[in-house]
Amino acid sequence: MSTFGRSLSHKQRALTVSSPRLFDKSVSSPRFSRKSEVSRLFRVLIAIGSVVSFFLAIGGGYLYVLPNLTKSFHEENLVSFNGSDSFCDIFDGKWVVDNSYPLYNASECPFVEKGFNCLANGRTNGDYLKWRWKPRNCELPRFNVYHMLEILRNKRIVFVGDSMSRTQWESLICLLMTGVQDKGSVYEVNGNKITKLIRFLGVRFSSFNFTVEFYRSVFLVQHTWSSKYGIKRVRSTLTLDQLDDISDEWINADFLIFNSGQWWVPGKLFGVGCYFQVNSTLRIGMSIQTAFRTALETWSSWIDTKINPNRTRVFFRTFEPSHWRYLLIAMPSIQMNAFGSLSRKFLQIGAAI
Ligand SMILES: *[C@@H]1O[C@H](CO)[C@@H](O)[C@H](O)[C@H]1NC(C)=O
Ligand SMILES: *[C@@H]1O[C@H](CO)[C@@H](O)[C@H](O)[C@H]1NC(C)=O
Ligand SMILES: *[C@@H]1O[C@H](CO)[C@@H](O)[C@H](O)[C@H]1NC(C)=O
Ligand SMILES: *[C@@H]1O[C@H](CO)[C@@H](O)[C@H](O)[C@H]1NC(C)=O
Ligand SMILES: *[C@@H]1O[C@H](CO)[C@@H](O)[C@H](O)[C@H]1NC(C)=O
Repeated sequence: MSTFGRSLSHKQRALTVSSPRLFDKSVSSPRFSRKSEVSRLFRVLIAIGSVVSFFLAIGGGYLYVLPNLTKSFHEENLVSFNGSDSFCDIFDGKWVVDNSYPLYNASECPFVEKGFNCLANGRTNGDYLKWRWKPRNCELPRFNVYHMLEILRNKRIVFVGDSMSRTQWESLICLLMTGVQDKGSVYEVNGNKITKLIRFLGVRFSSFNFTVEFYRSVFLVQHTWSSKYGIKRVRSTLTLDQLDDISDEWINADFLIFNSGQWWVPGKLFGVGCYFQVNSTLRIGMSIQTAFRTALETWSSWIDTKINPNRTRVFFRTFEPSHWRYLLIAMPSIQMNAFGSLSRKFLQIGAAI
């Protein structure tokens, strides 16, 4: 991946790796104003459209790391153009109401966590289920589950990250299940139930010979319980220069979708005695921003060395507006400080999603 110039700063790198242009125009989107908006995030993710719009709509906040996404969709004729000279920037668009949504009923999908099934939990308005992503200069084709199931035949889709990756994993499975007659042919490979702390979940669509997997790795780098430093408040460390020990499992995927961010806050680090370690040295004073940047650099080098871009398409999802209200306060400051304008964009995009 030549675009990953090692001499660039993180911010520049991040900008460089996203092949399609990032949002410049303001995202005209429903504003993030009510508490209930939080679950809109999940519903909108749930309502994501076709194979294109799945990766694109969540791509509102994604960096697409490997080959040029827009170009490949053009080649596959999945995007229709409006105007001969208009460039179809799939990240430049807005959420529009689509009354044909939602695309599935969460109560009929066995892979939805109870806590995220808003309607079943008593939410009365269903408007939040109706957002569809609309790029400014082109149309994404409507989600066609049969087409998508065929596209995914014999493939391996891997989500890695925190609960956001998990809920997106759930959403994709539920979307795909609407096209499967024999629901029993779709199962978790180890018979496990979805729980917050589980490290691996893999759902197999046996009639189509593909799996949609989730690996819980909230920091992406190695977390170790440790008292070896003899400092009482240090209960565990994040080894920022080493990717999570389950990372080998992520390698041979067709689609590899990461996220991280939500856990890089004081309450989930210093508050529970977790400090940083780099080059085998404890770095008590290292800021979270610096640590996050270092971890993402470790992640990007790992992508460079371990991932074959001819085989795997890589996405990285940045921050979301949290489903935990208190984090809404904690996040923006971290984002602004760590990544400046880039993160502001993502914050905006996150709110749009
Ligand atoms: C292209 O899209 C714009 C806005 O989405 C619309 O106003 C315009 O009529 C469209 N042009 C064509 C040729 O479809
Ligand atoms: C969703 O499915 C449940 C259970 O089958 C059903 O009770 C409910 O009416 C459905 N909701 C919608 C909006 O179709
Ligand atoms: C299932 O998919 C794998 C690749 O993921 C492939 O190697 C294998 O041959 C496929 N099996 C069948 C029966 O098509
Ligand atoms: C780790 O050590 C190497 C070589 O000693 C050095 O180049 C690198 O900058 C160090 N990394 C950090 C984050 O301090
Ligand atoms: C990817 O494909 C290109 C063109 O077919 C080839 O030149 C390159 O060596 C391949 N890279 C890897 C890592 O297999």
